[in-house]
Amino acid sequence: MFLLLLLGGLGLITLMVLLFAPQIRRHAAGAQCKSTVCLDGKTVLITGANTGIGKETALDLAMRGARVIMACRDVEKGEEAAASIRAAYSKAQVEVRELDLADTCSIRAFAQIFLKEVDQLHILITNAGVMMCPYTKTIDGFEMHIGVNHLGHFLLTSLLIGLMKRSAPARIVVVSSLAHNFGWIRFHDFHSQGSYNSGLAYCQSKLANVLFTRELARRLKGTNVTVNSVHPGTVNSDLTRHSTLMTICFTVLSMFLKTPQEGAQTSIYCAVAEELHSISGQHFSDCAPAFVAPQGRSEETARRLWDVSCEQLGIQWD
Ligand SMILES: NC(=O)c1ccc[n+]([C@@H]2O[C@H](COP(=O)([O-])OP(=O)(O)OC[C@H]3O[C@@H](n4cnc5c(N)ncnc54)[C@H](OP(=O)(O)O)[C@@H]3O)[C@@H](O)[C@H]2O)c1
Repeated sequence: MFLLLLLGGLGLITLMVLLFAPQIRRHAAGAQCKSTVCLDGKTVLITGANTGIGKETALDLAMRGARVIMACRDVEKGEEAAASIRAAYSKAQVEVRELDLADTCSIRAFAQIFLKEVDQLHILITNAGVMMCPYTKTIDGFEMHIGVNHLGHFLLTSLLIGLMKRSAPARIVVVSSLAHNFGWIRFHDFHSQGSYNSGLAYCQSKLANVLFTRELARRLKGTNVTVNSVHPGTVNSDLTRHSTLMTICFTVLSMFLKTPQEGAQTSIYCAVAEELHSISGQHFSDCAPAFVAPQGRSEETARRLWDVSCEQLGIQWD
């Protein structure tokens, strides 16, 4: 009897999902960037652009006429992505450059060549990210989430900010996450050496993205370079690659999730929307301002994180 009821219930749920599939998909897709801004003559740099949200962002901005530089750790995968962008839009000006955010030497080498060869940078999208890796360290000994998602992008931005100021008006888009709500900055154990939880390490790094955005915006006042952070939505991408359970959940629930193209909309919106030209230090989701957790609004924590990040990277950034 119980089994019959269970099967009947499951059948009913499946039927409802199939019946309402178009409505479910429309709701899951979220908001679209409606701006038709053209980016002829503009240069864009996107990290982690070989797949997922980054690749879709690159395609959209290339279709608007921008020169798009795709910074990827795996150049072969990057070239495949660039080829598929060119196949979708034959006039796309996309190029791939090697950048491993888990290695500060790679970041410095990337920036050195970039500054030599590229004379303007109007849009920087710090999109690359890792989630729920087993405990691993970057080449420089940083815990992988904080190392790649925060410190790697912090260093990259510090090296390119002068060029962005000279290219102003310019925008920085920091791809964070709703996960920042569940994070806190563990100043006493920044690299999770005392205890490690892969989910919390991801949340910490995404909170660091929000705090970095806040502090950078404060420091960039009056420069005509803006910076905003983004939650892209829950997107069916390769991000879950380190968690079998999450990969299964994302596959089963794919109808309720955003596609990478849908997930790219808020990054694109923050990069191009005319109405955001002077907006800085804010957090967006679904192409609209979004809630920031109290720990992401603390100016004191943001300043402390800035100092700790400089110290960890051995840099000065005033
Ligand atoms: N998917 C979601 O539901 C979701 C939700 C909230 C926020 N986000 C954020 O959105 C961003 C993009 O994620 P996604 O969903 O598009 O995931 P994805 O498909 O896994 O893309 C992540 C990108 O980051 C790159 N990357 C990883 N480690 C790197 C390193 N050391 N150096 C340079 N690049 C590196 C990856 O390169 P490889 O392909 O070579 O590994 C890949 O291109 C991330 O910052 C993520 O935290 C995603």
